[in-house]
Amino acid sequence: RKQQAWSALFSEPVDALVQRYTASVGFDKRLARFDIQGSLAHARMLAAQHIISSQDLADIERGMGLIAEDIAAGRFDWKLELEDVHLNIEARLTQLVGDAGKRLHTGRSRNDQVATDIRLWLRDAIDRIQAVLRALRAVLVDVAEANADTIMPGFTHLQVAQPVTFGHHLLAYVEMFGRDAERLADCRRRVNRLPLGAAALAGTSYALDRASVARELGFEAISQNSLDAVSDRDFAIEFCAAASLIMVHVSRLSEELVLWMSPAYGFIDLPDRYCTGSSIMPQKKNPDVPELARGKTGRVVGHLSALLVLMKGQPLAYNKDNQEDKEPLFDTADTLLDTLTLFADMVRGIRVNGEAMEKAARRGYATATDLADYLVKKGLPFRDAHEVVAHAVRDCTQHGCDLSELSLAELQRLHPAVQADVFEVLTLHGSAQSRNILGGTAPQQVRAQIARLRAELAG
Ligand code: ARG
Repeated sequence: RKQQAWSALFSEPVDALVQRYTASVGFDKRLARFDIQGSLAHARMLAAQHIISSQDLADIERGMGLIAEDIAAGRFDWKLELEDVHLNIEARLTQLVGDAGKRLHTGRSRNDQVATDIRLWLRDAIDRIQAVLRALRAVLVDVAEANADTIMPGFTHLQVAQPVTFGHHLLAYVEMFGRDAERLADCRRRVNRLPLGAAALAGTSYALDRASVARELGFEAISQNSLDAVSDRDFAIEFCAAASLIMVHVSRLSEELVLWMSPAYGFIDLPDRYCTGSSIMPQKKNPDVPELARGKTGRVVGHLSALLVLMKGQPLAYNKDNQEDKEPLFDTADTLLDTLTLFADMVRGIRVNGEAMEKAARRGYATATDLADYLVKKGLPFRDAHEVVAHAVRDCTQHGCDLSELSLAELQRLHPAVQADVFEVLTLHGSAQSRNILGGTAPQQVRAQIARLRAELAG
């Protein structure tokens, strides 16, 4: 009684728990579409090389067509005893078309097969993630444009530092996500290499045409060492590293959204459909989506560690450890896709309370640096100007007022160089406008960046 594809050697059936422990079909059936695509490319090449007959190829294509339909319709009967997606599909193919099905695996191993499948799957996942990442960047640019003049406090140490525009603040995230897109594109180049032809580990004696398989499957390059081809999972680790950084950026944005939405700040409001209430406190509207995104960053970073540790002790070449690469990889891509999709919509729905932002900036002596710079322009050394302004801030703290509310006489008492034009730089808008340098917060600069980013996103 043949129980497994490899069972002729075995004198007893595999222990039931071992079967469950070693099987991967429960999760790797997600690779089915790519497994079939890879098998068809392999079969076509085998026929072109006269390793199988054209009749065999026709049978394989017909059988795979039926299998693909069954899988898509959810009627395919996945069997645990057939271990993984590869053996399930091959067994069904043989059931459907007979000997041709048994010839498919000529010159191939599950080791190079699974490596091919994951690469095809991940390439597709990267392309989908790039699309939503781009959508999120475009939305951030839109909201930034609407807020190119909106003043908010810029923070260091979470203390009010200098006024910035909300548009400028949002564009910082567009830069982060832009680097993330570059990283993904770079990672994709190394994902997009064909392992098939490496067979189990040493290559194969059949005259396979690896280049034609690579072409048919859209691979840009062919792996050049068979041992490396079946055991390399760098590409998955790289992806998880890029994904972790994306989530870290999402998490920082999430943290800010949560802070900004708290009544203590009151800078923004999130659409109700992204929040939930409290079962006990009727007044609450909680920003669940950003909080969860911040939380899910933990699992994505965890998957990166899982893969690094998975690889670190493995001797060449393939080891079953590698079967553990899939769940972290799948979950990373799923989490990223959902999170970025939600964020693109949620960010578009942000309601901005510009008044609250401006008020908060006014509370923190945000133009103190501007006053110091003003004095420098009147001839004081910067360190002396810094000292004068520190005194001014102390006076304000005592009187409970802002720098811009000190009278000219009071300012002149601090230093005689102060003149009436000081009030131009003491206002928040004047301060932001004066930072008119490449990369600066001046609305004019923000608009220039928006124009650059729009061109980049359209390209
Ligand atoms: N399910 C296996 C994996 O995910 C496929 C390769 C198994 N190869 C083997 N010789 N057992 O890695």
